[in-house]
Amino acid sequence: MCGIIGYIGEDNALPFLLEGLEKMEYRGYDSSGISVMSENKIKTYKKCGRLEALKNTLASENTLVSSIGIGHTRWATHGKPSDINSHPHVSQSGKISVVHNGIIENYISLKNFLVEKGYKFISDTDTEVVAQLIDFHYDGDLLKAVQKTVSDLEGSYALGIICSDEPDKIIAVKKDSPLIIGTNYGENKDKSENYIASDIMALLLRTRKIYRLQENNIAVIKKNSIVVYTPEEKILNPEKDFELANWDIESSGKGNYEHFMMKEIMEQPEVISKTLTSKIKNGEISFEHLNISDEYLKNISKIYIVACGSAANAGLVGRYIIEKLLKIPVEVELASEFRYKEPLVDKTTLVIVISQSGETADSLAALREAKKQGAKILSIVNVRGSSIANESDYVIYTSAGPEIAVATTKAYSCQLCIIYIFSLFLADKLNIMDSSDMSKYINKLASLSDKIQEILLKKEQIMEIAKKYKDNKYAFFIGRTLDYAVCMEGSLKLKEVSYIHSEAYAAGELKHGPISLIENGTLVIALLTQDKLFDKMVSNLREVKARGAKIFAVTTIDHKEKISQIADDIFYIPNSLSEFSPSLSVIPFQIFSYYSALLRNCDIDKPRNLAKSVTVE
Ligand code: M6R
Repeated sequence: MCGIIGYIGEDNALPFLLEGLEKMEYRGYDSSGISVMSENKIKTYKKCGRLEALKNTLASENTLVSSIGIGHTRWATHGKPSDINSHPHVSQSGKISVVHNGIIENYISLKNFLVEKGYKFISDTDTEVVAQLIDFHYDGDLLKAVQKTVSDLEGSYALGIICSDEPDKIIAVKKDSPLIIGTNYGENKDKSENYIASDIMALLLRTRKIYRLQENNIAVIKKNSIVVYTPEEKILNPEKDFELANWDIESSGKGNYEHFMMKEIMEQPEVISKTLTSKIKNGEISFEHLNISDEYLKNISKIYIVACGSAANAGLVGRYIIEKLLKIPVEVELASEFRYKEPLVDKTTLVIVISQSGETADSLAALREAKKQGAKILSIVNVRGSSIANESDYVIYTSAGPEIAVATTKAYSCQLCIIYIFSLFLADKLNIMDSSDMSKYINKLASLSDKIQEILLKKEQIMEIAKKYKDNKYAFFIGRTLDYAVCMEGSLKLKEVSYIHSEAYAAGELKHGPISLIENGTLVIALLTQDKLFDKMVSNLREVKARGAKIFAVTTIDHKEKISQIADDIFYIPNSLSEFSPSLSVIPFQIFSYYSALLRNCDIDKPRNLAKSVTVE
């Protein structure tokens, strides 16, 4: 979704702003813009469409040099994508320029108030209200004007603000939307310069030394100083709270791959191995920094897994694993539903929030709701220091590294691994697994990376299958229990990147309605990894075959004889414990989705209308 970038220092801000915007393109956007200061005036350039359009406009401005600037990539919420609705938004007086991520919920009443005061609005956005309101409160002190403005705002907002009367500072504000400050470091350390961004990827070009602005705080950023103000007007010196980001700029590049999605699919053996080795040492599971008491763990009566999209699909796998290994009831809820459904949670409920970005608005709101009701929150998050991580009682980080493709692959896989390891950890704490079973599970976990590698080596086989079905208009994924959970993810992956409409069904459900859609040539993708359900699945496949379906089956080699009699295409995955099969069976689905999208000329890394991190409700 929207991205913020800002620079103040000694160099020309423009190249940094444009590079930063480019690094945030993966988040999804429909327009971009920048404001810089030239001859004591704010100059703003904004363009609907790809960043290229903005760069083309700026190409003729070769005399534009400014040591301060803010920039933005917009994903439209209020008002259609257009040049005028793009950010930055500049106040009527031309003095104040603002970039904003989030939503100002009370913008209509504020707009009416400002209209009465004589302000004229030119855009449909909520953000223009912020620029005009700061202008209204401004009497020569930008900080005071911003403080007054935020006390009038309701909603979520990360803001970057500049003012032509105070060209020595950027003001940054954070409420319910991420904002980080970077400072010169390493090769750059002799320069006086500071930066802001909503996404660490945009800062890695210059620095890994970052400060995460805390909720409701306001920072005044000059080229050689950063001062942070709390809502109570306490002044903080952030120096001791700077941290070194553990991601580097190389890991955020495409390497030799044509697309981030394939690069990230291919990285899975490595990141899974990293995730496992960070938690399993000498055959023993340890969550060193978790600080979760045995007493609390023993009293857990119910677990909720709350998440969105693929993270919720990882939760579906989690439900089967936890219920099987721990015999604790688990409910999996979409965060957007959980937050409004008056969930039955209390202090014996553990709520597990899963999120790659750690910033998904619905997941964050669900977390807060659960906390309010007295539950403890354990989050499984990829981005360090993100809002969900910050607000959880316990955090387990996945070691997926930066994930740039909008369609998640490696982060989902790492989430599965954490679910397996945490379940085993809990089984150990609750004394419900003997040591030989524990060793068996741990050994099998350790072999997952190699098995995934085996599948990846055969990716061309899946490409050939994708070629056969690339023109299909729709597809059904079917499976039972854990396979059904993986089908949910396979189906989401296929539709989001290739735009082939697909639905996942529990195979037993077909007869209750969806089978009426099966006709000659309908693609049915079947997953059969659960030995004891294999024959049931074959019966379901016979039913669709009899109605003309084409079947692409993913199963293990042991089933070769039976499956070859019915499936049109087959991909074999290595054997594994049935509990861990999702980590293997999801890989062919990711690859099939990738090649389907490639063959259909889709924008694989940035599918239409999607954003990497969904920071609005
Ligand atoms: O950052 P999160 O894991 O909280 O994001 C949740 C979903 O938005 C995300 O998984 C989405 O469904 C992906 N596009 C799926 O590939």
